[in-house]
Amino acid sequence: MSKQDNLEIKRVAGVAAAAEVQDGMVIGLGTGSTAHYAILRIGERVREEGLSVVGVPTSYQSAMRARAAGIRVVDLADVDAIDLTIDGADQVDAAFNLIKGGGAAHTREKCVAAASKRIITVVDPSKLSEQLNVPVPVEVVPYAATLIARQVEALGGVPVLREGVKKDGPVITDNGNFVFDCDFGTIADPAGVEAQLNALPGVLTCGIFTEFAEKICVLVGESSGCRTLT
Ligand code: 5RP
Repeated sequence: MSKQDNLEIKRVAGVAAAAEVQDGMVIGLGTGSTAHYAILRIGERVREEGLSVVGVPTSYQSAMRARAAGIRVVDLADVDAIDLTIDGADQVDAAFNLIKGGGAAHTREKCVAAASKRIITVVDPSKLSEQLNVPVPVEVVPYAATLIARQVEALGGVPVLREGVKKDGPVITDNGNFVFDCDFGTIADPAGVEAQLNALPGVLTCGIFTEFAEKICVLVGESSGCRTLT
């Protein structure tokens, strides 16, 4: 599939998710290319339908995109709860466990997910897998990075420090930290690996999301339209 076709499929999923937004809602705004299309469409609806919503961004990226789209942005601290979050994922398994963090935003994405009543996960079909098997992003305090890399190896993972496109230094998250992409092969026990990673001193958040399956609905963009998995 061409990059353009893949983007069109992501757009289909993002636009379908934006149709679920109702007047008066507090919306969690995800990070990444698929969530971006939802943000654009919500902004259009604000302008065209006079929809009144506030958005809680999961990153500086989504905050900037939301403001540019005309969505009023507030901080997580300003809301009691989030009615609906629309966010992407790097992988979704059959039980709706997720791997997130391809955009290094998984810490804030997990906070927003925890505060959300409903989550729409917007993906293209390549993100669906029976079991999780892509590398797990782990946000770490730089001070503890070397120690954590050894501990991830002891848990059976292969950690790779994420670098910027020029490969001249680590990616720095919105929280001022590093990210290791940790390859565990196929993950038979996602909740167990999530708990082990989160327990390492210096780990802020790992990108395995196992606690939200009950409130997740997955919208899969396809060339023929959008498929809903519940
Ligand atoms: C950012 C994320 C994104 O949701 C994930 O990487 C998917 O991105 P995209 O929609 O661009 O494929 O977790 O931290």
